Amino acid sequence: MKSRAADVIVWCSDEAPGFRPNRPQDLTFVGNIVQAMESYGKGQLTGTIPLSDVDRVIAIGSDGMMAAVARARHGVLAPYLTKKHHGIGSINSPMQCMMKEICAQCLQLHRDPESGKETAVFSCFNQDQSLDHVDWANLRQRLSQNGTQEKLTKQWIDRCLQKLGVREPVTA
Ligand code: FES
Repeated sequence: MKSRAADVIVWCSDEAPGFRPNRPQDLTFVGNIVQAMESYGKGQLTGTIPLSDVDRVIAIGSDGMMAAVARARHGVLAPYLTKKHHGIGSINSPMQCMMKEICAQCLQLHRDPESGKETAVFSCFNQDQSLDHVDWANLRQRLSQNGTQEKLTKQWIDRCLQKLGVREPVTA
């Protein structure tokens, strides 16, 4: 896999053996994203751009991963990041119309970290939201509404792949 969209890529996988980068400047890490960033900050992963030069952290992925990155910026990653950096998450609220402020299915609760004041935003209107303002518990609760449908879809896809011989039957 080649990428010209980034100066350095840290290919990160929760499961061994992980990825094998094919550009000399890229790195690989087995573990979660926060552990990879911490390792990079400590210099255990030696990239060409110091973490202290980073002025934007953009998290895109599961709500759990984005919440972990949001927290870690003020915890384990704080010694390696500049205090002035911006933390942005691509918030994956449940959506319906995606027509920007019509149905309100995508409402996301925000809480100002300083004043505690609560506001709501339409995620389909603005998906890129401040990591420090998103109420992560609210997002998790909203996303869990789709849990049953997602489990059924996963089972259906597993069954289709088994029928096609692409995947072994799951024995549990
Ligand atoms: S999904 Fe309908 S307003 Fe955002």
